[in-house]
Amino acid sequence: MVQKSTSVCLLGGFLGLFLMAPVLMSSTPASMCTPLRTLNDSLSHRRRYMKHNFPINYSIRVYREEIFKLSNISRMKLKVEELDDLVLQRLWFQVNQGVLKKIIRVMSERHPSRSYTAELERRFKDVEGVFVQSHPAEVFQQELPEAVQETWDHLTEEPDRVPESNWRLVSPKSLVDNLCHTMYCLFSECFDAETQQDYCGDSQLRRGRKTSSQNTVTTPAE
Ligand SMILES: *[C@@H]1O[C@H](CO)[C@@H](O)[C@H](O)[C@H]1NC(C)=O
Ligand SMILES: *[C@@H]1O[C@H](CO)[C@@H](O)[C@H](O)[C@H]1NC(C)=O
Ligand SMILES: *[C@@H]1O[C@H](CO)[C@@H](O)[C@H](O)[C@H]1NC(C)=O
Repeated sequence: MVQKSTSVCLLGGFLGLFLMAPVLMSSTPASMCTPLRTLNDSLSHRRRYMKHNFPINYSIRVYREEIFKLSNISRMKLKVEELDDLVLQRLWFQVNQGVLKKIIRVMSERHPSRSYTAELERRFKDVEGVFVQSHPAEVFQQELPEAVQETWDHLTEEPDRVPESNWRLVSPKSLVDNLCHTMYCLFSECFDAETQQDYCGDSQLRRGRKTSSQNTVTTPAE
């Protein structure tokens, strides 16, 4: 349902928004907090479903770039000047939709974690729907910083074109931990209690809030 209204909204709003949107963003639209917290509720059961239901040391093959942790965020912020949170959020969606798909693919229909993971994916997509809906379409066409574009290109590569050296073996639990911890960091406005535990690292990671222009332009989601 979210997806449908999203595309309607995108079609309808595209022209107008395209013309009026300056470069805006950073920070998380308030409308994302409800679906993010719903996803967070599911994530609280990840130990049971992503670890206990799998053999000891079980791991799956993922692209190197599908390992997206807090350390990646701080490194990218150091490397790319003025890196917008929105770019990192887009990357977060790109990485984790692939990760969830790969986890689901290793489970048979009757695997005890199958429906849990499918629910996780559904809730993740709900968040993505609201994310897309709460930003002008133009934002998603913006050029990415070069280093991020390079990562993006690797993430969207066909599996048979990924060289052997770019594959990694990672446990499902650790992939979902990454998803969760980076979520607390990148959407910190919705997770104040969690981010007080410093998920997003030190003050160098804290960005100034640039919300002034945003409030006037990104409200169609409401
Ligand atoms: C997110 O989930 C954790 C448990 O995993 C919980 O302690 C926390 O309160 C939740 N945060 C929000 C904002 O729902
Ligand atoms: C799992 O991995 C750990 C650390 O690499 C290793 O010490 C342990 O023996 C492994 N367990 C099994 C059952 O393979
Ligand atoms: C995160 O860092 C690791 C280690 O440097 C790297 O292999 C991986 O590609 C990075 N992930 C992203 C999404 O940039």
